[in-house]
Amino acid sequence: VKRRHLAVMAIGSASLVVAGVTLAAQDRYALTAPSGIAFSEFKGYELWQMVGASQADDGSGCGTSPDPGCIKVILGNPAMMKGYAERVPDNGKPVADGAVLTKIEWAKASNAEAGYGMTVPGKLAEVAFMVKDARRFPDTDGWGYASFTYDADSDAWKAKGDAPDFVQACHGCHTIVKARDFVFTHYPKR
Ligand code: HEC
Repeated sequence: VKRRHLAVMAIGSASLVVAGVTLAAQDRYALTAPSGIAFSEFKGYELWQMVGASQADDGSGCGTSPDPGCIKVILGNPAMMKGYAERVPDNGKPVADGAVLTKIEWAKASNAEAGYGMTVPGKLAEVAFMVKDARRFPDTDGWGYASFTYDADSDAWKAKGDAPDFVQACHGCHTIVKARDFVFTHYPKR
């Protein structure tokens, strides 16, 4: 009986160690944006196809990065890429429900190994999402918005925005491209 008791104790402390390790590496997919959209809805976004890229002249064109600004890539989930292949939204047709776009932002860094001036992605700063679901997001023309910031120094993720209506700021600016169903990024020839 005593031996079995010891074995149970050993298993107990082993799982404590495992729990400690899990807590140390923060699970970004446990986060939910104030808009009610969970980060876990976008699992696997790192492997989506690239739509386009952009580089802001300074910090004013970035979600979180200060001057001298940031580098971004815009990726689409399979439903969004199917739309682009059919020339949506350039053809004036609305993006289909289920389509998602993400914008990954890094602080600018220079590559010292290159023999010429070159700006490359530095520290990861923010990952923003737009998800199309006409019934779920009627107040913002069918688009849901969520964004998560990353602090590279402390390896910590945080949901962006303090109240559900932070999405009005996102959508307000995206209204500039209302004619393209609120999507800025074009699919460049490659
Ligand atoms: C001041 C204007 C402005 C605001 C506010 C804004 N965006 Fe954008 N967004 C842009 C522009 C311009 C682009 C084009 C790509 C880029 O930024 O390089 C863009 C691109 C995107 C993209 C890629 C798809 C596309 O439309 O090209 C996503 C996803 C996105 N924004 C999410 C958000 C979210 C989430 C918020 C709110 C937290 C937000 N945006 C707020 C201007 C804005």
